[in-house]
Amino acid sequence: MIQDLERHGTGEDVVPASPSSCKAFWPHLKDSHLFHNRRDFLAFMRTHNGRIFFLAESAAASQPFVLVGNWRSRSDISALWYVRALGGERKRLVLRASEACLEEGAERFVTRPLAEGEAEEFRSWGFLPLVRVVILEREFRGKPGPLPEVEGVRLHRFRARDLDEVLEVDASAFDDFWSLDRRTLRAVSNSCSRNVFLLAKRRGKTLGYAVGGVNGRLAYLQRLGVHLSQQGKGLGEVLASGMLRAFHALGANLVSVNTQEDNLPALSLYHKLGFKESGDSRHIMYRDRTRSAR
Ligand SMILES: CC(C)(COP(=O)(O)OP(=O)(O)OC[C@H]1O[C@@H](n2cnc3c(N)ncnc32)[C@H](O)[C@@H]1OP(=O)(O)O)[C@@H](O)C(=O)NCCC(=O)NCCS
Repeated sequence: MIQDLERHGTGEDVVPASPSSCKAFWPHLKDSHLFHNRRDFLAFMRTHNGRIFFLAESAAASQPFVLVGNWRSRSDISALWYVRALGGERKRLVLRASEACLEEGAERFVTRPLAEGEAEEFRSWGFLPLVRVVILEREFRGKPGPLPEVEGVRLHRFRARDLDEVLEVDASAFDDFWSLDRRTLRAVSNSCSRNVFLLAKRRGKTLGYAVGGVNGRLAYLQRLGVHLSQQGKGLGEVLASGMLRAFHALGANLVSVNTQEDNLPALSLYHKLGFKESGDSRHIMYRDRTRSAR
C-alpha cells in the first residue's frame, strides 16, 4: 500500500482522524451546507461510515483535510463530500482517501458534482467522468402564471409526518444512485436561507414532491420527484409551477435547476416552464478498483 501511494505521488503523511477527534473538524464544515447542525454531522460519521483524512504534519489552524463517507444510502459507493486543501496536498489527500475506501470494500468512489475546472483536475489524477449534470435557469419577468389543474390533486406544505411517504415517492421516482436517504433529504431541504418543500397529494396520499430554496434573489429547484405510477399525468408540472410561484413570492428573480444531461422528461418539463440551458455544467467523477490513480 505504502509503495502504491509513493508510486502515485501520494504519501504516508495522510492519516485518518480517530472517531473521537472528528469533532474538531466541525468548525470547517459548518458552512458547507452538507449538514444541518453538528449533531447531524456526528450522526453522519456514525451511520454513513464517515471518515476524515488529514495531513499529519500540518498546523491545526489551517488543517487541510477531506471528508469521505457513503453515497447516500449506498454502502457500496463511497463519496468525497468535502475537500479543504489546495495543490499537491489536495491531490495527496484525495488519492489516499479514495484508495482507503476502495481497499476497505467500496466498489466505487465518487465525487460530488464538480465544476468544469475541478473535474479536469480530478481527470488528471485518474478519475473518470460518471455523470454530466446540466444547469438550467429561468428569469422571472412578472408573476408566474396560475397552477395547472390536475383532478383531485392539491399542493401542501411538507410536515414532519409526511417524511416516510416522501421517501417512498423518492425511491420510486429515482434510481438507486440518485434516490435520497432520510439524512440527505433533511440536509437538502434546509440548505438555503428560505426553504420551500411542497407535496402533491390526492385524498391525503403523497404522489410527488419538490424541494428548493432562495438565497437573496437566487432560487434553486433542488429536487422534484413524482411516484413512478403517477408520472405523465401533470403532477410534475403542478409541483414545479408551485415552486416557481413560491420562489417569486420570496423575492427571487432567477431560478436555477440541474439535471442529468440524458434526463429527457425533466429537461422537457423545465423547457416547457421557460428554463434555458445556462451553458454551465457539473461533473460527477469516479474511480473504482480497476482504475489506478496517477
Ligand atoms: C421529471 C418528472 C418530475 C416529471 O413529472 P411528471 O408528472 O411525470 O410530468 P408531467 O406529467 O407533469 O409532464 C409535464 C411535462 O414534462 C415533460 N415530460 C414528462 N414526462 C415526459 C416523458 N416521459 N418524456 C418527455 N417529456 C416528458 C413534458 O414536457 C410534459 O409536458 P406535456 O405533457 O405537455 O408534454 C418525473 O418524470 C419524475 O419524477 N422523474 C424521475 C425523477 C426526476 O428525474 N426528477 C427530475 C430531476 S431532479
